[in-house]
Amino acid sequence: MEEKQVKETRIVLVPVPAQGHVTPMMQLGKALHSKGFSITVVLTQSNRVSSSKDFSDFHFLTIPGSLTESDLQNLGPQKFVLKLNQICEASFKQCIGQLLHEQCNNDIACVVYDEYMYFSHAAVKEFQLPSVVFSTTSATAFVCRSVLSRVNAESFLIDMKDPETQDKVFPGLHPLRYKDLPTSVFGPIESTLKVYSETVNTRTASAVIINSASCLESSSLARLQQQLQVPVYPIGPLHITASAPSSLLEEDRSCVEWLNKQKSNSVIYISLGSLALMDTKDMLEMAWGLSNSNQPFLWVVRPGSIPGSEWTESLPEEFNRLVSERGYIVKWAPQMEVLRHPAVGGFWSHCGWNSTVESIGEGVPMICRPFTGDQKVNARYLERVWRIGVQLEGDLDKETVERAVEWLLVDEEGAEMRKRAIDLKEKIETSVRSGGSSCSSLDDFVNSM
Ligand code: UDX
Repeated sequence: MEEKQVKETRIVLVPVPAQGHVTPMMQLGKALHSKGFSITVVLTQSNRVSSSKDFSDFHFLTIPGSLTESDLQNLGPQKFVLKLNQICEASFKQCIGQLLHEQCNNDIACVVYDEYMYFSHAAVKEFQLPSVVFSTTSATAFVCRSVLSRVNAESFLIDMKDPETQDKVFPGLHPLRYKDLPTSVFGPIESTLKVYSETVNTRTASAVIINSASCLESSSLARLQQQLQVPVYPIGPLHITASAPSSLLEEDRSCVEWLNKQKSNSVIYISLGSLALMDTKDMLEMAWGLSNSNQPFLWVVRPGSIPGSEWTESLPEEFNRLVSERGYIVKWAPQMEVLRHPAVGGFWSHCGWNSTVESIGEGVPMICRPFTGDQKVNARYLERVWRIGVQLEGDLDKETVERAVEWLLVDEEGAEMRKRAIDLKEKIETSVRSGGSSCSSLDDFVNSM
């Protein structure tokens, strides 16, 4: 008897090969897979993600001749994105052509590409495939990029150099000041604006998915919905609904055993994500501030994050003795598990969007020290809109570090902030549950497919 072949509906995902982008894209893949779609992930190189058993149901493809993770470290994010978009257009077309040829029993429902992988557009246009833009940053950061893509680079640069203007609220973006706008330390303003104008151009995409929730950013989402000609689906934070481990670095789980020995809400967890850098001077101020605060600390020092050092060799011997008594340093932590741990009372963060929503999702208040880009927007929102963070601005000194840690973990103000963080966690959990706004938004997106 002739075997009847079942037709699958496939979604093709195109993530940026950087931790903060791969993670939410793989979570989106899991969420869509749970709704019955087959998933193909197109990577710019083969990496740890494709070999993980957590994604054994997914199909992986590599764009030939593309860049690698070490290119990202060497070029920096801005040049990396520009180069990737230059060189991948033709090879991605080839990839999709091959997929369509091989998977003739599959319908491709759509290609979902990271907003920074805008080279994808040429292929979807050629093969007339529906496409969707996935924004892994906040809706507010999207709004800011859209505003910045329309400013005049020259006069904007003059404003940004004026210390008085820097502290002013940017017209139409309250409470963001000029200095909170997502400018980048990784390249000149002209190329930042060029990249931004590409990321906010949704071209012929039929929808935009955002890893955020309306309880976090209702007015920015409404503004985006009004501005873009296509539906905007806020379906996040995805890490709560669709756990999808996709660490590009090896996690050191020994820190969880160390946390098990600490008192509830006593530990400050410090991590600056996958790209932020810290100079030796700030690292030393931080070390002495932590030392003077008398609180236990778990510190992620990513190898290569202190320019000129391999790892922690610039920390003095005396501090290393303190670490053995009251601290723990790792190269990379299982962050979600750490934030969920009852011993963790605060998170010192660079405020990347994933770290921000992961902290909110666990009700952990934050010390915000943004480094670049959208992290500045997130830090301002944490402090001024959600009021669950305190931002450290200007030069870092050990007294400020000590005060901030005590404020968060010991003082009454920190306890108030923790209460607000727990309230927000509950709102977020409601939004991803059945009937909640993010859950309904995901269903609406799936139905639209
Ligand atoms: C980058 C940008 O910095 C960020 O602002 C943007 O929104 C996404 O791209 P990144 O700097 O890596 O991301 O920060 P973040 O968005 O916070 O993502 C870091 C991810 O790495 C998080 O999911 C976090 O859980 C994970 N992580 C971090 C670990 O698993 N272990 C660690 O030790 C540190």
